[in-house]
Amino acid sequence: MRFIGNKELITIEIKDLLNKKGLLNKELKLFDAFCGTGAVADFLKDSFNLVINDVLKWCVVYTKGRIIVDGCKFEKLGFDPFEFLNSNNRVKKGFFYKNYSPGGSERMYFSPKNACRIDYFRQSIEDWKTSRLINEYEYSFLLASLIESISYVSNTAGVYGAFLKHWDPRAKKPIIFQRVESKKSKYLGIEFYNEKIEDIIDKVECDILYIDPPYTQNQYGTQYHLLETLVLNDNPNTSPVTGSRPTTPMRSDWSKDYKSHILFDEIVSKTKAKYVIFSYSVDGFLSKSFIEACLKRYGKPDSYMCKKISYNKYKNFKSRGKKDHFEYIFFIEKKTTDKVYYESPLNYIGSKAKMISEIKKYLPQNINTFVDAFGGGFNVGINSESSHITYNDVNHFVKDLVESFRINNTYQYLLYLRRLIKKYNLVAKNSDSYLRLRNYYNSLPSEKRDPKLLYAVILYGFNQQIRFNGDHDFNNPVGMRWFNDKVLEKMISFSRIIKEKSISFKSVDYKKLLDKMDSNSFVYMDPPYRFTTGSYNDGKRGFEGWSIEAEKRMFEFADILNKKSIRFMISYVMKHRGKTNGELKKWIENNNYRLIKVNQIPSIQRKELLIVNYDQNGKTTFCDQGKISKRRLVSRPAAFTYIS
Ligand SMILES: C[S@@+](CC[C@H](N)C(=O)[O-])C[C@H]1O[C@@H](n2cnc3c(N)ncnc32)[C@H](O)[C@@H]1O
Repeated sequence: MRFIGNKELITIEIKDLLNKKGLLNKELKLFDAFCGTGAVADFLKDSFNLVINDVLKWCVVYTKGRIIVDGCKFEKLGFDPFEFLNSNNRVKKGFFYKNYSPGGSERMYFSPKNACRIDYFRQSIEDWKTSRLINEYEYSFLLASLIESISYVSNTAGVYGAFLKHWDPRAKKPIIFQRVESKKSKYLGIEFYNEKIEDIIDKVECDILYIDPPYTQNQYGTQYHLLETLVLNDNPNTSPVTGSRPTTPMRSDWSKDYKSHILFDEIVSKTKAKYVIFSYSVDGFLSKSFIEACLKRYGKPDSYMCKKISYNKYKNFKSRGKKDHFEYIFFIEKKTTDKVYYESPLNYIGSKAKMISEIKKYLPQNINTFVDAFGGGFNVGINSESSHITYNDVNHFVKDLVESFRINNTYQYLLYLRRLIKKYNLVAKNSDSYLRLRNYYNSLPSEKRDPKLLYAVILYGFNQQIRFNGDHDFNNPVGMRWFNDKVLEKMISFSRIIKEKSISFKSVDYKKLLDKMDSNSFVYMDPPYRFTTGSYNDGKRGFEGWSIEAEKRMFEFADILNKKSIRFMISYVMKHRGKTNGELKKWIENNNYRLIKVNQIPSIQRKELLIVNYDQNGKTTFCDQGKISKRRLVSRPAAFTYIS
């Protein structure tokens, strides 16, 4: 049957890809999460165990009916239902007759004669099921066949959102009850759900997730309300003009811009499947750049694949004459959760976003509370797997900004940004509009400055950096960047994970954090670096700068932690542009701390170090100063170097 977004024509491409990835015929479980008419599931039924789902009941029943045809023998019924129903002229003036034909309404979905035949077919199927003459599978097969049969005589332009105002010749033909189209082969196994995918994704056991969501504002529930009513058989209240059942329960957030982005991130991150295959129209809400960023966050880099397919290649008699349409097919093999890293949507100077995998290598396992004492953009703390995380930054603007991603509904946040961008006509390099927004932000008293507003300003400022003057006014000039889909992806994934984890937010001097710590705490410190001044630590921004005294103060704090057997890690640099931080070197030597040279990250010029007070097993062996003999300089693999 005709169905918006039907993948009938590209099933072969999907199978081909699965074949190339070596996934066919291994008894794997494939989850067709938006099964629609089941074109993909039916085509793959002899290669995979299937799980099918759709928010519309009729789609689940139709798909099920197609797949299980082979098992429907109607032994208990004792006769062929198709022959039987077509051999008589019985009618019933039921719901369809009264609501969807001129027999009992103004609506012209079916001729009165066909409508009362449909009511008769529907009633017969229900009666057979109630009297246990047919089983669950036979019931679905007959309903799927009824859906198929009515599609040949409906007086519509393909969908059931509205009827034609004149009679199409096909609607005048008498209805024939005919078998649903189905691939002639046996199915391996099948499970069904009729839920919103977002409500079940983390529960469904499967190896491969196939996603084919709606990609326009078109609501399937509105376009196919009549089929839902045919299957549910529940005599619903109908709307005045189209006669639709209430559409709210059928509404899909995938048909909404931004909501579909949020859902896509959630689905890909939460599925239990090892592999994800995703088909999407090039004209959909999600851009290729967004999809790619999202799939690469959760997928192994080498496994990512994107293929653009022209429908022209596959045009058949059904689609001939239509303009060409392109579809993407994406594929990933998912990373394990511990290898998925989240990035802050703030472009923070000195950000550790690119270093997370290096930093994580040296973090101990059993941390109760991870304290990100100089939190900044929160790239490190957000990736901690501890039971609780404390974010702290003395700059309260930054702390409020980071927290804003947790306390605001992500969809509402995005709508707010979109409204501002439109209202102020924010575009890259447009200084006038940018300054109007920046001035508006600065004109507000401190307590009225909405972090969401600040985020909008930041997005269009120079390098998307955060820069205030001594009066705490934002003073970054206009930039070349904009709220592009890569930033959008970072914001969405970050906003999800920051809501899911247990996190508390503080904006105090780091020393004040000590009160709440015990030996199960872990303190990560990423202070400003003395040799590499950023716009947040030059002392001219209304916040204290980072001087040699400030550095000494931090060393003292680290020593206190050490005495209390609290483990810490400091990110720092020892050498920069020919200068060596002698004080740092001496402090590490005197205390016998462990110095880790981080593998060089291509995009970072600084030679980053990590200083820790625990050994490879996470034990704080350095706290008992004096007793431990000084380590000699040993060169070790995996970037471990002890300095004596
Ligand atoms: C593009 S169609 C799928 C087409 C299908 N692959 C085929 O070939 O027939 C999208 C389907 O997603 C379903 N859908 C929309 N939102 C959903 C949700 N939140 N959860 C599950 N299914 C949903 C719609 O009812 C529709 O059947």
